[in-house]
Amino acid sequence: MAGGNPLGCGPRPLGGWYLAIGLYCAPFGDHPATYLRVVEVSGIKGARLVLLVSGEGTNLQALIDACRDADFGAQVVAVGADRGPANGLARAERAGLPCFTVRLADYPGREEWDAALTRACAGFAPDLVVLAGFMKLVGKSFLDTFGGRCVNTHPALLPSFPGTHGVRDALAHGVKVTGCTVLLVDDGVDAGPIVAQASVPVADDDDEVTLHERIKVAERALLVSTVGRMVREGWSVQGRKVRIGS
Ligand code: GAR
Repeated sequence: MAGGNPLGCGPRPLGGWYLAIGLYCAPFGDHPATYLRVVEVSGIKGARLVLLVSGEGTNLQALIDACRDADFGAQVVAVGADRGPANGLARAERAGLPCFTVRLADYPGREEWDAALTRACAGFAPDLVVLAGFMKLVGKSFLDTFGGRCVNTHPALLPSFPGTHGVRDALAHGVKVTGCTVLLVDDGVDAGPIVAQASVPVADDDDEVTLHERIKVAERALLVSTVGRMVREGWSVQGRKVRIGS
């Protein structure tokens, strides 16, 4: 267990890491409510990952596969879903991983759902939570606990085309290049600081399905390499700027 601390923060003496969070109010563009954090996390040995998924789970599978290599630097300690049955959960079960489901419909409201999701994740003491195709917005309780160490993957080059239809919206706009983004999760919609991006050209005859499939090839590689680098090298966040390594 990572120090047995469900918040996962605080100094760790051996091969550990240190998370420092300072809060300041930094109005940015049309997202003024964001309290951007100054975060510094050094490399985490054998980092504990909790992965959250809503659907097919190919990004999740890529991370599960990557973690089989001890040199990757992380282990998947649990997989959670917001709905069932999710194919992603079936992948996790096949891999013998602990799974949990926290459905919005089972709670009186979003706040209670968010608190339950936070508790479920915190129970596995993750160093990093990865939204690997998770189609719900997390709330205050989740961000109070995992802010600065929760990443999401999105199938567009943010800040363009946030939301649930990033691929469709980019196609409709007629862009010639799109891609994918790994970002830190904050209280906006795909608005958090960008960790890494990869571009994907749009073909004249692309439809949403063909384009999304090509993006997902790039996305899986980007998510795996980014999460791996984050846990091995650490990361820092200053305002909107994320830097991996020192
Ligand atoms: C991925 O393209 C991911 O970026 C997207 O859902 C897909 C999940 O694929 N997530 C979002 O759009 C979140 N805003 P997968 O289930 O095969 O990994």
